[in-house]
Amino acid sequence: MMDIDFVRSRFIKHFDGKTGHVYASPGRINLIGEHTDYNGGYVFPGAVDKGVMAEIRPNGTEDTVMAYAIDLKDRVDFKLSDPNGPKASWARYIYGIALEMRKRGADVKGFNIAFAGDVPLGAGMSSSAAMESCFAYGLNDLFGDNKVSQWDMVLAGQATEHNYCGVNCGIMDQFASVFGKSGCLMRLDCRSREFEYFPFKPDGYRLVLLDSVVKHQLAGSPYNDRRNSCENVVKHIAAKHPDAKFETLRDCTWEQLEEVKSEISEEDYRRAKFVLGEKDRVLAVCDALNQGDYERVGEMMYQTHEGLSKDYEVSCEELDFLNEIARENGVTGSRIMGGGFGGCTINLVRNDLYRQFVDDAINRFFEKYGHKPKVYDVVIGDGSRKLC
Ligand code: GLA
Repeated sequence: MMDIDFVRSRFIKHFDGKTGHVYASPGRINLIGEHTDYNGGYVFPGAVDKGVMAEIRPNGTEDTVMAYAIDLKDRVDFKLSDPNGPKASWARYIYGIALEMRKRGADVKGFNIAFAGDVPLGAGMSSSAAMESCFAYGLNDLFGDNKVSQWDMVLAGQATEHNYCGVNCGIMDQFASVFGKSGCLMRLDCRSREFEYFPFKPDGYRLVLLDSVVKHQLAGSPYNDRRNSCENVVKHIAAKHPDAKFETLRDCTWEQLEEVKSEISEEDYRRAKFVLGEKDRVLAVCDALNQGDYERVGEMMYQTHEGLSKDYEVSCEELDFLNEIARENGVTGSRIMGGGFGGCTINLVRNDLYRQFVDDAINRFFEKYGHKPKVYDVVIGDGSRKLC
């Protein structure tokens, strides 16, 4: 994480010299359970030690926000009453979250804000959820007497994506960023919103991310198409069973999917098939973790990669190549992480194979694509918090 003094020095410099309060929220990893959140399934994320830090201070106005993005050296001022909001994509997260927090009971008025981040952008580690949760947490503290619940902050972040940023995402990223706990992964049931902390200290193994540096961009993208496919399949299944309640693919069985196979496109069928399989894999991984069976965890990760690549079609050549290198190096588990279309693979690797694997991946990737993948060792950190 960045240090407070850095953010504070910029806040002081760019506004009136006064200090505010400083808040931080992390990005996330996800061990398994991809594209299951908006299908009411399970996910298995954890917060990381990288994220977003913001200093915020009410500025005494009714609705003027003065915002400074430290990393971009970009300043944008806007009014919360402006129905269009700011154009800069980073500022739309601030505008969106302020309005969504108002809807959930925080009496948000004008404020000054400066923020910075060290979670890589477009790497599938949820830099945008880190922003949303950080701003939500700060605004709740400054304008909401901390009365807006953690879940409502998660939903405010998700609604910001839907209503102001063009991504019809699920709740995994914002959930992980708000609820994260050092050393723990969390299994969340996205239908009931029940979750469990799972201490994650695999003896003899570690998690490492390899970032293809192919930037993923979810806004207005094939991500929303995937979601539409899933909803379409649910509609077909529901039409065949008028007496039962089908909200998401979570409510559907393999048999019901087969029943509608001839009515839906081959593409929608494959996508739904992936989601049903992924739901089962998350549960299988939980069992395997309880038994300390990391080889089985790894097998599931490879299956997920295969499904995301061939059936859900959210991979790219570079990520498939990194996955292949992992297999060839005897890495226990490897797969695309996050929304896909670029970003990272997450790799569960035995300590004794780590160096050889990472070096081989860097060298072969460089040879083929002319740039090196970035390497992030995973440290599972805490969720949203006030720093001072
Ligand atoms: C993105 C979305 C999440 C989730 C993942 C895929 O990160 O924001 O809601 O759907 O993709 O698992």
